[in-house]
Amino acid sequence: NSTPQMVQSSLLPEDVYTDDCLTSYTHVYSPDLLKDQVAFITGGGSGIGLRIAEIFMRHGCDTVIASRNLDKLKEAAQKLTSATGRRCLPLCIDVRKPESITAAVDETLKDFGRLDILINNAAGNFLCPASSLSFNAFKTVLEIDTMGTFNTSKVVYEKWFKDHGGNIVNISATLGYKGQALQVHAGSAKAANDAMTRHLAVEWGPSGVRVNTVAPGPISGTEGMRRLGEY
Ligand code: HXC
Ligand code: NAP
Repeated sequence: NSTPQMVQSSLLPEDVYTDDCLTSYTHVYSPDLLKDQVAFITGGGSGIGLRIAEIFMRHGCDTVIASRNLDKLKEAAQKLTSATGRRCLPLCIDVRKPESITAAVDETLKDFGRLDILINNAAGNFLCPASSLSFNAFKTVLEIDTMGTFNTSKVVYEKWFKDHGGNIVNISATLGYKGQALQVHAGSAKAANDAMTRHLAVEWGPSGVRVNTVAPGPISGTEGMRRLGEY
């Protein structure tokens, strides 16, 4: 009675409300789906990014998790490796600073010798009415979410994907579709990213680079959700 889109409930992973790894996991896809591939995940030390890293690693991928807080990343990397047996390299970057991304991608390539997947997941958000939002607050969210996505994509493309192909997945959101209140900064940033996805897919597709967007709904147990309840 199930449609092809439905997954048997016994295969769904448990709900986790912390940044701990899953206590059990049933593979829906082949455990070797991403065997020996390497993924670079911005904001991979917490929330959705950490869970993407975990699931990729459970499917044989090695990962780089990259953001500003190195202590948090190191702790996450240890948890991920002990839960999955795969390598996870924690690296400090600020997606607003291209030179920090360049250094991290150089280190990734030196360490792993390849790069297959980029997940642009790093973001900043808070609830604020447009009338109270400072110029710098709007700019800050655009710089992290939108320019950060462009900066990271461009560095990875120039250093590896241009010659080897690869996959870019941009983590978006649905709040801009209908203009959700208190979210003009995040909604505008994600809308720009959705356009960026299409432009880069057209320009870089011929080099074997696939560029896609995933726009999750609200995900429990994440910082993004906690902040939406704040106002
Ligand atoms: C209004 C705020 C604010 C708030 C900061 N600002 N927080 N304005 N309400 N709650 C303003 C500051 O006053 C300042 O403007 C400007 O924003 C920059 O603030 P800084 O603290 O200097 O910025 P920075 O240290 O770079 O930190 C960025 C940040 C921070 C976005 C403000 O919260 C952060 O690092 N967030 C990362 C984690 C996060 O946000 N995770 C959730 C992602 S979830 P002035 O004018 O005073 O200088 C997500 C969900 C989407 O994106 C969809 C859900 C359904
Ligand atoms: P989160 O745990 O706070 O993840 C955001 C990550 O971005 C953090 O690990 C943070 O790490 C990193 N980051 C922030 N600013 C950065 C910067 N300047 N440079 C590098 N890294 C930076 O929140 P989340 O809820 O999991 O959100 C993850 C993604 O999902 C975001 O793109 C968000 O918009 C999207 N999303 C979330 C939901 C939801 O319900 N949670 C719904 C739709 C979309 P550091 O602090 O260490 O830098």
